[in-house]
Amino acid sequence: MITPVLLCGGSGTRLWPLSRKSYPKQFSPLIGQESLFQASAKRLHGDAYTNPLVVTANDFRFIVTEQLADTGIDPGAILIEPSPRDTGPAVLAAAVHLAQKDADTLMLVAPSDHVVPDTVAFQAAVDTAVPAARGGQLVTFGITPDRPETGYGYLELAQEPGDGSGPVALSGFIEKPNVERATEMMAKGRFLWNAGIFLFSVKSILSAFAEYQPEMLTAVQEAVAGAHPDLGFVRLAQDAWEQSPKISIDYAVMEKAKNLSVVPFGAGWSDLGDWASVWRETAENGLSLTGAATAIDCENSMLRSETEGLAIVGIGLEDIIAVAMPDAVLVAHKDRAQDVKKAVDELKGKD
Ligand code: GDD
Ligand code: MG
Repeated sequence: MITPVLLCGGSGTRLWPLSRKSYPKQFSPLIGQESLFQASAKRLHGDAYTNPLVVTANDFRFIVTEQLADTGIDPGAILIEPSPRDTGPAVLAAAVHLAQKDADTLMLVAPSDHVVPDTVAFQAAVDTAVPAARGGQLVTFGITPDRPETGYGYLELAQEPGDGSGPVALSGFIEKPNVERATEMMAKGRFLWNAGIFLFSVKSILSAFAEYQPEMLTAVQEAVAGAHPDLGFVRLAQDAWEQSPKISIDYAVMEKAKNLSVVPFGAGWSDLGDWASVWRETAENGLSLTGAATAIDCENSMLRSETEGLAIVGIGLEDIIAVAMPDAVLVAHKDRAQDVKKAVDELKGKD
């Protein structure tokens, strides 16, 4: 059996004003009827999987339980981080927690804010990764890049992928390169984007943390040992937790590990990190319209009313994103989608 580990502690600021500190994007129905978190939980559900382990923040604990209840999936455990310390400590806490029962368990670590439309293809890709993960590999999932994106990790294949039926060894992992490096890697070929999804055994990831992040391992082991149950949640011990370095698993372990493989995944994947990517996923004939939205002579634009009774109209627009919430409206050029983060920083405290 594989234990899904769902990470949902991020705040998704680039999707403001829909995504808020108190209600981040993974809990909103950005695409379709269910939230990205619910879709992720369902994608990792089936005969080969145990109930999911969720790692989240205190503020989101009841959103998590309510949204899981709606899907009919029982949480295996919900770990609560006393503060966000990025994905390194979050994954490690899940591993240490699971090791209390069985260090041979395989964990499938997944973000809760992605779109992967084909669950069957996704689970088939995971199946092909199982023997390698049992053999001690840290298995990643790779996406063919179509632009020199700087917000992703890049996986360097040690050899050409074979018939696509199993993992390929990696010779490098480059997290969030600058645009020059990303362009170089695109041109070279033999690089895939890291989908942010990982399969490994509890024991393999624990030994990787022991080797590359001993300080984090000590802090997180103490935080799990000192955890206390609370209404079915597992609250990690705060003092120990705060001693952990704040760093993502990509920088903490993946860039350093030697036992990496990748399963190339071609069946559709998107990280809905910003409005441009939501536009890419949802646009028909260049337009993405949600709610009471009307577009007249518009091209390559998104008009989104997230407010009952509030109409949004665009005339003669090109490459524009407009999102209307009851208390805030965003209007931006599509090429500046990354800069929404800056706006949020400026508005901090008012959100
Ligand atoms: N529990 C918890 N605690 N979850 C967190 C935390 C945290 O402190 N920080 C982030 N997460 C969750 C986010 O909610 C998201 O679901 C997932 O972990 C990944 O975090 P991101 O912050 O979105 O990472 P990223 O997009 O910058 O980069 C990662 O994903 C890319 C693909 O989408 C990396 O793995 C890249 O290498 C990868 O290409
Ligand atoms: Mg992300």
